[in-house]
Amino acid sequence: MKLQRAAALLQAARRVVVMTGAGISAESGIPTFRDAQTGHWARFKPEDLASPEAYWKGPEVVWEWYAGRYRDVMAASPNRGHTLLAELEHRKLAQHGEGAFTLVTQNVDGLHLRAGSRPPLELHGNLTHGRCEACETVQPLPAPETFVPPPTCTRCGSRMRPNVVWFGEMLPQDVLEAAQLAFERADVALVIGTSSQVYPAAGLAGVTRQCGGMVTEINPDETPLSGQASFSLRATASAGLAALMGTQD
Ligand code: OAD
Ligand code: ZN
Repeated sequence: MKLQRAAALLQAARRVVVMTGAGISAESGIPTFRDAQTGHWARFKPEDLASPEAYWKGPEVVWEWYAGRYRDVMAASPNRGHTLLAELEHRKLAQHGEGAFTLVTQNVDGLHLRAGSRPPLELHGNLTHGRCEACETVQPLPAPETFVPPPTCTRCGSRMRPNVVWFGEMLPQDVLEAAQLAFERADVALVIGTSSQVYPAAGLAGVTRQCGGMVTEINPDETPLSGQASFSLRATASAGLAALMGTQD
């Protein structure tokens, strides 16, 4: 399939679903998940920090890491890839109404919302919020300048944990079900900036194919999805979306 054909199918689609991964935030200066850790965290593997075991063993170290990522994320800005997706969403909703566009993300940085997208389906949570260890209340973290971890629950005063899904933890079931339904119904699924290695997120594009929809991948590198996608565009998120949406880069 050629770029023009993939662009035409996206243009004509009445139901679009998008899955984003860390690659779409790379152009905002946020390290992707499997890039080498920057700074003094180089001696840790992310998996050794983003896990329940790591947290119960040393909540301070885990909170130190998340507080650093929280500050970085709040200091970063959405990039053109994020804003093009928000533009595509607005176009599709205006043309075909509710249900014409669903954004699903594995990212926990909150940049899609800040770019003007409606709140995405966040499969792995959002590190700008905490979740109470006792009563499960979710609330935004204090401003990064004044934030000293760990946050405490305003409802019951207990300690809060980062509101993210850790290795070995279940994804929020309602969010996952809504995502699966969107991939079943989609005419076109865009999979952008993900290494497609972590399930169940990595399996959703296959649902669209099984249900007769087409899958376009945007990634500078080859991934396990590339061979099964209807069209795989070797490009960054912003350049690939600009090309597919026919906007000048
Ligand atoms: P990865 O770091 O695994 O993959 C990032 C992907 O983005 C790679 O395929 C890169 O080639 C690609 N990439 C790099 N720069 C890009 C750019 N400018 N534009 C587009 N793509 C670019 O991150 P994810 O696939 O998101 O889960 O990781 C998925 C999950 O694995 C994460 O959500 C996290 C991790 O375990 C949890 O924390 C539960
Ligand atoms: Zn509480």
